[in-house]
Amino acid sequence: MFAVTGATGQLGRLVLAALLQRTAANQVVALVRDPAKAADLAGQGVAVRPFDYDAPERLVEPLAGVTRLLFISSDTPDQRIAQHRAVVDAAARAGVELIAYTSIIHADANPISLAESHRETERAIAASGVPYAILRNGWYNENYLIGAEAAIAHGALLGSTGDGGISGAARADYAEAAAVILTEPLAPNRVYELAGDEAFTLSDVAAALGEASGRTVEYRDLPESGYREALIGAGLPDGFAAALAEYSAKAAGGILADGSRTLSGLIGRPTETIRATVLRALVGASAAGAAR
Ligand SMILES: NC(=O)c1ccc[n+]([C@@H]2O[C@H](COP(=O)([O-])OP(=O)(O)OC[C@H]3O[C@@H](n4cnc5c(N)ncnc54)[C@H](OP(=O)(O)O)[C@@H]3O)[C@@H](O)[C@H]2O)c1
Repeated sequence: MFAVTGATGQLGRLVLAALLQRTAANQVVALVRDPAKAADLAGQGVAVRPFDYDAPERLVEPLAGVTRLLFISSDTPDQRIAQHRAVVDAAARAGVELIAYTSIIHADANPISLAESHRETERAIAASGVPYAILRNGWYNENYLIGAEAAIAHGALLGSTGDGGISGAARADYAEAAAVILTEPLAPNRVYELAGDEAFTLSDVAAALGEASGRTVEYRDLPESGYREALIGAGLPDGFAAALAEYSAKAAGGILADGSRTLSGLIGRPTETIRATVLRALVGASAAGAAR
């Protein structure tokens, strides 16, 4: 049986949808923090089991019968190491035969602070003795939709990435790759650097926002401190603003770019461009289809 943690999250839901295209619902387990949010999945015949990374004593039983586990990283980076160790330990104790873990692109060399908890998790998985697949996911194109409305309103997309390239892809692309890795008989103990086919710059993102809105949107590059202050001024909490500014500044060095095309190779089609993602979100599906 195939199981997915964080199955009610944005990536998790897309993985479930991709898995259900490849296998019968009675072979799929949705591991969720809150089963009430997964009633629709239960209605499709998927087994829904409670699975909270913060309850280490209750993680082994829900893994009964699970052979291949997609472990989606938690969204609380400062608590991740303890949470993730508990999940890996439970998977080993439950006799899971493959842990596929969603890490970060170029985790071994990535200077972004949140890469450290991914490195720790990769080490814990390798040390567990459970066969694994490390899915080092690149940036989601959708990350650039979060500030889209403000950028369009002000005619300016702010950031600290200069002309650093970002090989982003749509969440659905990463989700499909996860479903492929989970269901196909691929050799274990591999690391997959997963990223979009073409690197884009924040000027490309601004151009896509301009095209989608019919307004002029330019990219304005700021020093990391200036970008952080701008985010705080826009109402973001200090810590979150500092983290986003750090990621943006460190991306200037190209760590989020990757030319391997491993992701499109796995899913058997080109990844979605940033332009297509922006048009899909802001204009509609037909515009995205035309932009691919
Ligand atoms: N590559 C990127 O650009 C990028 C961007 C953002 C995040 N990420 C990482 O990728 C992961 C998936 O992305 P996403 O967009 O799907 O994020 P998301 O929508 O925030 O989903 C996070 C999932 O983690 C679950 N979760 C959080 N804490 C948990 C806990 N204590 N026990 C069990 N489950 C817990 C959440 O459960 P609920 O459904 O109950 O909330 C949710 O299902 C994130 O968690 C983060 O680590 C990557």
